[in-house]
Amino acid sequence: MAHILQPTPENLDTLSAGLAAGKIAAVPTETVYGLACNALDIAAIEKVYAAKARPHNNPLILHIAHIEQLDQLAQIPPQAHGLIEHFWPGPLTIILPKKSIVPDKVTAGLRSVAIRMPSHPVFRELASRCGFPIAAPSANPFGYVSPTKAEHVMNTMGDQIDWILDGGDCESGIESTILSLVDPRAPTILRLGTLSIEKLAETLGGHLKIRETVSENANKSLEAPGLLRRHYSPHTKLTLFEGDAPLLGENEAILYIREPSAAQPDTYSLSKEGNLKVVAHNLYSQLQALDTKGYQRIFLELPEPTGIGMAILDRMSLSAAQD
Ligand code: TXA
Ligand code: MG
Repeated sequence: MAHILQPTPENLDTLSAGLAAGKIAAVPTETVYGLACNALDIAAIEKVYAAKARPHNNPLILHIAHIEQLDQLAQIPPQAHGLIEHFWPGPLTIILPKKSIVPDKVTAGLRSVAIRMPSHPVFRELASRCGFPIAAPSANPFGYVSPTKAEHVMNTMGDQIDWILDGGDCESGIESTILSLVDPRAPTILRLGTLSIEKLAETLGGHLKIRETVSENANKSLEAPGLLRRHYSPHTKLTLFEGDAPLLGENEAILYIREPSAAQPDTYSLSKEGNLKVVAHNLYSQLQALDTKGYQRIFLELPEPTGIGMAILDRMSLSAAQD
C-alpha cells in the first residue's frame, strides 16, 4: 500500500532521489494529481503506463520547474514566447516539435511533445530538486475520474504505487488546457481547461483555432490520441440533463450545478451559487464521493456553455459516455 507523504524537505529529498532512481510517485499539481516519473527514463515511463493500464498510443505530458529546461526538450517557435510569459507557471500545456533527448516512449512515437510548467508550490519544490523533466499523466486508473485529493489516489491506485505526495486539494480541479503549436501558424486548442480562450487568442495575436470539442469528435481519429470517448468516468451510470430536474427513481441521485432552494434526499450540488470555477474545482471530487454511495444512477446537470462551462461540459460528456 502507498504511503501518503507530507511535503517536508526530508520527504521531498526522498521522493526526488526515488524518482531519479527510476521509481514512480503520485504528486499534486494545481489541476489534478499526476503519476510522476523521470521523463528521460524509459523503464520508469513503462512503470507509469503499467500502473494506469494506459494504452501505449497515448502520450504523456512533460512537466518542468524552470524555463531553462525547455530548450533541451523542444523547438520553440516565436508564438510560444508570449504564451509562456503569460500563462506559465500554470495550467497550460503546449505541444511543440520535440528534440531527440525526449524518448519516443513518452510521446508514443509522435514527433511532438506536450510540456507544461505547473504552478503548484509543492510540485515546483519537487521538480526543482529533481532537475530532470517529470512525465505525469493524471494519477487515475485509465478511464476513471481524475484525482484532486491525495485520498482519491489512495483509493484508486494505492496498491499500485509506493508514494503519494500530499499537496492538498487541487485548485482548478480539471486538467490543463492543451494548445498545439506543432504548426505555429495555426495554433490549436486540443483540450479545453480553465484558461480563458479569449486571453489565449489575444496573446497569440488573434490566431487560435479550437478543435471540435472531444465529445463532438467522438468517432474521428484524433490528433491527441488520448482524447478518446468515455473518460473521467465513475463506475455509477451517469445521465446528463439540462432544464427541468428528472424525477428520481429508487437508488438514484441528482448532482446539480447550483444548490436547489429546498433540500431533498439524494440531491447534491457542485457549487452553492453556481460559480463555474467552484463547479470545476468540485466536479471530480463529487463524482468520486458519490461513486462510493451505491447509487444505481446519478443525474448530472450540465452548465451553461460559456467560459469554463465549455471545459466542464466536455468533461461531463465524456464522463457520461457509454462506450
Ligand atoms: O493538468 C494536466 O494536464 C494533468 C496534470 C497531471 O499535469 N495531466 C494530464 O495528463 O491530464 P493526461 O495524460 O491525463 O492527459 C494528457 C493528454 C492526453 O490526452 C494525451 O493524448 C495528450 O495530452 N498529449 C500528450 N502528448 C501529446 C502530443 N505530443 N500531441 C498531442 N496530444 C498529446
Ligand atoms: Mg488523464
